[in-house]
Amino acid sequence: MGDGFSVAIDGPAAAGKGTVSKAVAAHFGFAHLDTGLLYRAVGAKVLAGMDAIEAAQSLMSDDLDDDSLRTPAVAQAASKVAVISEVRAALLDFQRSFATRAGGAVLDGRDIGTVICPEAAVKLFVTASAEVRAQRRFAELSAKGITDSYETVLADVKSRDARDMERVEAPLRPADGAVVIDTSDLSIEQAVAQAITVIQEKRV
Ligand code: DC
Repeated sequence: MGDGFSVAIDGPAAAGKGTVSKAVAAHFGFAHLDTGLLYRAVGAKVLAGMDAIEAAQSLMSDDLDDDSLRTPAVAQAASKVAVISEVRAALLDFQRSFATRAGGAVLDGRDIGTVICPEAAVKLFVTASAEVRAQRRFAELSAKGITDSYETVLADVKSRDARDMERVEAPLRPADGAVVIDTSDLSIEQAVAQAITVIQEKRV
């Protein structure tokens, strides 16, 4: 069941695509790859003084398993290294082979439906207003004890959106044929239910 079935989920920061991806993967028994972690791991190495391209080319799966990748500073660094085409190229094969694994896979990121996996069986674009996304990220960070103000978080979300959407290579945009889910006024359960319905329709 689900052999090679791939689901591409793209969208801006804090739109809920991580939550939706995890829930969908659990529901259908698919493997899940949060591709933002690849860029975050490279960004973290750059903050530690390493060259971005070298960091991307030598990335190991252990590098992805690190709670410190979830900070705003690493998110910004990730968005900056993500404009470098050699960085994106170095991360391509890993993502493509993950997408085609037997048993099905969900990948979430910015360019999954457009570049990594244009032939995905299902493409979703999960989005929400910048204010709603900043509010969610602010609550998440506060719960972790990170004391950035809502205004700082909103400015961060907007600057990352601009960089991710305006870059030359693999800019963030809905893929052709993507189903858009705007989570601004949806609960997590409602967003997950919409995603499951779309995938279910493509599986029969
Ligand atoms: O999804 P995230 O917030 O963890 O992603 C961090 C940054 O990584 C994001 O601002 C842009 C970059 N990224 C990308 O360019 N392509 C992807 N497929 C995933 C993330």
